[in-house]
Amino acid sequence: MKLKIFLIGFMGSGKTHWGRIWAQKNQLSFFDLDEQIEKTVGETVADIFEKKGEENFREMERYVLRKFDVKNNFVMACGGGTPCFMDNLQWMNEQGTTIYLQSTPLQILEKVMDEKQERPLLKKLNSSELLFFIEQKLKEREPFYQQAKHILDTNILTTTSLSEILKKKDLGL
Ligand code: S3P
Repeated sequence: MKLKIFLIGFMGSGKTHWGRIWAQKNQLSFFDLDEQIEKTVGETVADIFEKKGEENFREMERYVLRKFDVKNNFVMACGGGTPCFMDNLQWMNEQGTTIYLQSTPLQILEKVMDEKQERPLLKKLNSSELLFFIEQKLKEREPFYQQAKHILDTNILTTTSLSEILKKKDLGL
């Protein structure tokens, strides 16, 4: 079986956290797309945004994602914006299985509050601006996230959530 699992969803929805756990549980490799971009470029995501701008980051993101056409049997934690730019979502849906980890703005706020310095889109916002930004951005991105093959509510995730999907479904591969 050839599996490519792409976890999508807003910043702070737990893509990296659950991705690692689910990959291990299902004997799959784990990749974090931001980390792969950082390795490829040799700079942090924050620095790429700062020095080269978001557009450049999105080009790199698309380029690094495409390298996974030759890899199989992995879980990838995508960046929050990955499915919302260019043809990334369509590509991921053709290549494998997308899973949207769905959270509410307040849950996201709670998660990103302490780590907003590492997130270039958030770091200049104070806490009231932050909630507004999350609500707006989520609304804008929801139509993309909703095109995932599976949608999981982050309130009810467990270590076996991915195994259950893999068990019951036709993966379209
Ligand atoms: C982004 C999310 C980040 C990272 C970059 C842009 C976004 O990833 O790719 O800062 O546009 O939502 P995480 O969702 O892993 O924080």
